[in-house]
Amino acid sequence: MAATFDVQPVNRFAGKCPPLKRPQEIAYFSYDDDHKFRLDESSLKYFYPPEYSHHLPANLCDGFDTFQKHDDSIDEHLDSLLTTIMEMEKAEGKRSEVDFITWRGMVTKILTAPFDHFSKFEMNATLFQGTIFIEDCHEAKVADQGRQRSQPSRPGAHSQDMMSYWGYKFETLCVMPNTWGETSREFIENRHKHIVSNKAQYCSVVKTGFANSSLIIGGEVDAVQTKKPYDPEIPGSKDRPIPWVELKTSEVIQSDRDVLKFERKLLKFWAQSFLLGVPRVTVGFRTKEGILTHLQNLEVLKIPGQVKNGKGTWDGNSCINFTGAFLDFLKKTITSEGIWKIRRLEKSPVIEVFQVEPSGHGRILTPEFINWRQQQIAGEVMRML
Ligand code: A3P
Ligand code: MG
Ligand code: MG
Repeated sequence: MAATFDVQPVNRFAGKCPPLKRPQEIAYFSYDDDHKFRLDESSLKYFYPPEYSHHLPANLCDGFDTFQKHDDSIDEHLDSLLTTIMEMEKAEGKRSEVDFITWRGMVTKILTAPFDHFSKFEMNATLFQGTIFIEDCHEAKVADQGRQRSQPSRPGAHSQDMMSYWGYKFETLCVMPNTWGETSREFIENRHKHIVSNKAQYCSVVKTGFANSSLIIGGEVDAVQTKKPYDPEIPGSKDRPIPWVELKTSEVIQSDRDVLKFERKLLKFWAQSFLLGVPRVTVGFRTKEGILTHLQNLEVLKIPGQVKNGKGTWDGNSCINFTGAFLDFLKKTITSEGIWKIRRLEKSPVIEVFQVEPSGHGRILTPEFINWRQQQIAGEVMRML
């Protein structure tokens, strides 16, 4: 029997939300140019915009034939996030006691669910030592991508693969591997000629909260503006907000319909950035043909207000209140180990939660993580005796 949580009517979540704590980075990791895991910030990128006189307008299709694309057919589960948390716990000598551990992408789907009527998702969850771990269901995602690819695109339109490449090409035009002072002028000027790859990533691991729930979330961040404020010489600098920048491409706005389309996109931009405490989104506007014409900076915390004063297609407070209530529901429902599904079917007014395996943690948790935590608990018990 599935337990269900009503997404609609969404107006029951309207109104002010309780004050939220700013998400705080507690750890990080990188994937290198071969997508190998590294427990460091080696893939952190620095923002520096393309120059209008030199780079713009830019054809985002350029270099598509040499794109170094990460093979996303492999299910990565929560592995990198769990390793990072485990290493942090070993260094600190204590377990992180939170209600949820998951990727940012999962929480984005929940946060946007009330206003994204076409959203559908399937996640796997398990309860271990009081924490609910949630991963994407890889099989469902692959099947969905296959269905989308087989749908014919409009005549004359670019392929899904090309349009996805535009986003990475834009990132390449906007970032540097080091601070401005440490990067050569030649590198900055020649960014339009660089081979585009999406294998390297920097992932931030943050602690955050919604209503009665605490969460550890991991997610990729595109770039930092200037640099991270942490300076070992300055006490407290570790707690300062990090000036992250999320990079996004979007079609130039020409009609009233485009305004509506852009507002709906803003829901995803806002949710994704808000969850990791990213303060700014830099949008690269492009034509239908993929020509990048100009950039615009958006302050993440002002996006909901902008939408309210615009077409009002969504409401940020409702999203936050909905997420708090939904996480409460998950805690009340997922009360034993085993594997659980969290599923929303297309256009469905409800999210279903049901158990598919009565015991164990499937492949959601790694044996290393389970061993480490069991040793920790054993140590805690010994200390209590
Ligand atoms: P755009 O968002 O500019 O289209 P992110 O913005 O999350 O950093 O992702 C970088 C780029 O990856 C996106 O740039 C897009 O090109 C591609 N991308 C992300 N999610 C995708 C998805 N679900 N399907 C296809 N491409 C995706
Ligand atoms: Mg990104
Ligand atoms: Mg981006």
